[in-house]
Amino acid sequence: MSRSKPRKPILSRTREQYETFPYPARRAEEEDQRLITGSPGDWGEVVHYVFGGRDPGAKDAPLRILVAGGGTGDAVVMLAQQAHDRGANAEIVYIDLSAASREIAEGRIRRRGLENVTFVTGSFVDLAAQYGPYDYIDCCGVLHHLPDPDAGLRALAGSLKPGGGMGLMVYATIGRTGVYHMQEMMQRLSAEAEGRARLETGKALFAGLPPTNWLKRNPFVNDHISGGDAGFYDLLLHQQDRAYRVDEVYDFVEQAGLRLQNFVEPLRYDPAIYTTSDDIGAKLAVLPPRQRHAMAELLAGNITKHIFYVVKTDNKTRPVEIAQPAKAGMPRVGGQDIGAMVPYLGRVDGAKLAASVAKSAQIKINFSGFALIRKLPPASAAILARVDGQRSLENIRQSFDPVPESWPFYAQVAALFAVLSAANLLFLRHPA
Ligand SMILES: C[S@@+](CC[C@H](N)C(=O)[O-])C[C@H]1O[C@@H](n2cnc3c(N)ncnc32)[C@H](O)[C@@H]1O
Repeated sequence: MSRSKPRKPILSRTREQYETFPYPARRAEEEDQRLITGSPGDWGEVVHYVFGGRDPGAKDAPLRILVAGGGTGDAVVMLAQQAHDRGANAEIVYIDLSAASREIAEGRIRRRGLENVTFVTGSFVDLAAQYGPYDYIDCCGVLHHLPDPDAGLRALAGSLKPGGGMGLMVYATIGRTGVYHMQEMMQRLSAEAEGRARLETGKALFAGLPPTNWLKRNPFVNDHISGGDAGFYDLLLHQQDRAYRVDEVYDFVEQAGLRLQNFVEPLRYDPAIYTTSDDIGAKLAVLPPRQRHAMAELLAGNITKHIFYVVKTDNKTRPVEIAQPAKAGMPRVGGQDIGAMVPYLGRVDGAKLAASVAKSAQIKINFSGFALIRKLPPASAAILARVDGQRSLENIRQSFDPVPESWPFYAQVAALFAVLSAANLLFLRHPA
């Protein structure tokens, strides 16, 4: 009787993969050229989605941050640099299974001369609580690789402070059409092969795919083409990988005692942008948020990952919204005067944005090949040109000559904010 070798535990296989192919491929010297920023975890986003526009870095008490499954360091470098630039008193913990990935991440932090990061090698499922509790946890592209993602998320939720929150990314099923066909073929052909041998088989399989294969037809995934061997392996050859539909994201979050603040970018999860039919638009408009988000994923087809922020279920904090009064009058933010709020930009060049809006009084937004145009109010370019992350809205209004009347000015601010905040381009924070 032939006996097959017992399979290694999932965690060891995952560790070995990232020891051989630390992901994403990075070198410390690249830090001299650029800072990689992104979602989740970009400071401005975290202030908006987790802390309701109140910058936690402005407090004296140390801000405790965990980067769970930090890989080669993109999030830990971004957060440590942004904390440093703001003079925030942040203590950051990085945990990853892979010592090779940690070495790269540590090198990047050293290269920037940053401090206040504690590096830990091991599983955050076992270790997160030991170094917690945390105000913010960043876990990007990791939970879907755990043998039990639900338990992993519960472990993170358990080490969160009551007012804290998390930025998460998990793979999305529909946009990754074809990826799991490849993974299944690899299981059938070469279930036990690892490392370079697995890569070789995977590359031969990919090179010979017919043009009708779903991966070949899917333009929305490209890590296997642009991400080097580490990207190819991570996308197509992973042995522990699952994806989520919107409904599954909601269930995932809720089973851990958490509440979804929003997906990023919120506009991408608005199904109304994907249909030209008024009838369907009217039906979509009356659906509850979860159904609307699920419909957006189905309609769009190009969402390859779900990026979202969560807080504890009983945390009442909400991202900043501007409430428009029914009649002419001042819009308000959380019941208070809007004028003291400080606008700040997302990851966009403010001068370029202002210049392009000045030409057309509209903005073109591109979501992975789906483009939409939104009209903006007349003062938009002039307002955007004055946004520096320091000046309040009232200070901006007073800087116009002549000074515009209050409520029509703030009505324009509200309209501008509604479009740009949904695209993650403009946020409002409370004064320090
Ligand atoms: C796809 S990479 C993502 C890295 C990083 N978060 C990013 O977005 O660039 C997944 C990382 O999660 C780590 N990982 C997987 N399971 C883990 C666990 N239970 N504890 C700690 N790290 C884990 C892997 O070692 C790997 O570095």
